[in-house]
Amino acid sequence: MIETLLWDGEMTCVRHDERTGASFVIALHSTALGPAAGGTRAMTYPSVDEAVADARRLARAMSLKMAAADLPMGGGKSVIMLPGPRAELSDRQWRDILSIHARNLELLNGSYWTGPDVGTGSEDMDVLARTTRFAFGRSVEAGGPGSSAEATAQGVFSAIRASVREAGESGLEGLRVLVQGLGAVGSRVATLVAEAGGRLLVTDVDEGRCEPHTVAGATVVSAEAVTRTECDVFVPCATGGVIDVDIAATLPARVVAGAANNILATDGAERTLHDRGIIVAPDFVANGGGALHLVGREVLGWSESDVMARTVLIEKALDEVFASARKRRITPLQAATAGAAERIQA
Ligand code: NAI
Ligand code: PHE
Repeated sequence: MIETLLWDGEMTCVRHDERTGASFVIALHSTALGPAAGGTRAMTYPSVDEAVADARRLARAMSLKMAAADLPMGGGKSVIMLPGPRAELSDRQWRDILSIHARNLELLNGSYWTGPDVGTGSEDMDVLARTTRFAFGRSVEAGGPGSSAEATAQGVFSAIRASVREAGESGLEGLRVLVQGLGAVGSRVATLVAEAGGRLLVTDVDEGRCEPHTVAGATVVSAEAVTRTECDVFVPCATGGVIDVDIAATLPARVVAGAANNILATDGAERTLHDRGIIVAPDFVANGGGALHLVGREVLGWSESDVMARTVLIEKALDEVFASARKRRITPLQAATAGAAERIQA
């Protein structure tokens, strides 16, 4: 119980639905800069406690992401704990689950806005939007701005450029860049890296996703061996929590910069990487392109080229984070967190 109360966020809502077997968690971490916003993650979890913990960690990351990107939104996240793997749910079950989620969003009456995340996409936002006003990222066909993956990938690529420079390199030419997860974001990052002259290594649990990149010359690494594979830049674009303290102590890379939210399993992992001289781009800065796309297009009335103009500035933002960390003798994650927290508190 005490554990449940120990959170620095504002509110957590939990609901279980007997009929569908799904549990719903909405965590509002901060509404200081504006309504809380963050995607809806739909997957299975070993327990409701773990779903709540994940929603809270992810909501906190969203507060930092919005502040770091200078967007007028707070941080929140929804987790739908599914009764079984998404692929095994019938369309009917999924529609029922989404309709409960939409009603939950209406109950919060705009204190929290959602968008796509792992396990949900634009088409699901189209469904939510039939019941609630508080869903970002509807498909283009339904009048929305569509997927945020392109903006996220461009931002991650900008983050890789800044991080590689911090590691003493002038560019990506000839560097071994290992992309983990070749979904909407990772696949596009891989293409941008190859175009910039990087030597691409790729991995995905779905091996078919590697194929377009191997045709273009990439080397495939087994998903299980990824954190033992030598590379210059490790780019996690699959799930979070990929680097714990033990992996941090041995990871054979010089730079870590990726799209996944909460790449590091614990803060201790960043300290270990930092002590080994590995440059880590704080993920909530590196992957801010998606938030710029969704909030920029839906709230601020930006065009897609406005979004891109802001997204490439992630490179400069990270230059500043690295410079501040060096000057204050702290880690880049500490520097970026302090900068975002100052904005939230101000
Ligand atoms: P996606 O679902 O399209 O792609 C994820 C890919 O990772 C899939 O191809 C999947 O097979 C693969 N994968 C899963 N577990 C793996 C493992 N253990 N090893 C190797 N591959 C694995 O997701 P998307 O949209 O590309 O996002 C990637 C990551 O970036 C996610 O963690 C997401 O939360 C994060 N992110 C995405 C944003 C967006 O705009 N799409 C914005 C900010 C963060
Ligand atoms: N889920 C994505 C992220 O983590 C995109 C998103 C951004 C969704 C902002 C809602 C609001 O950045």
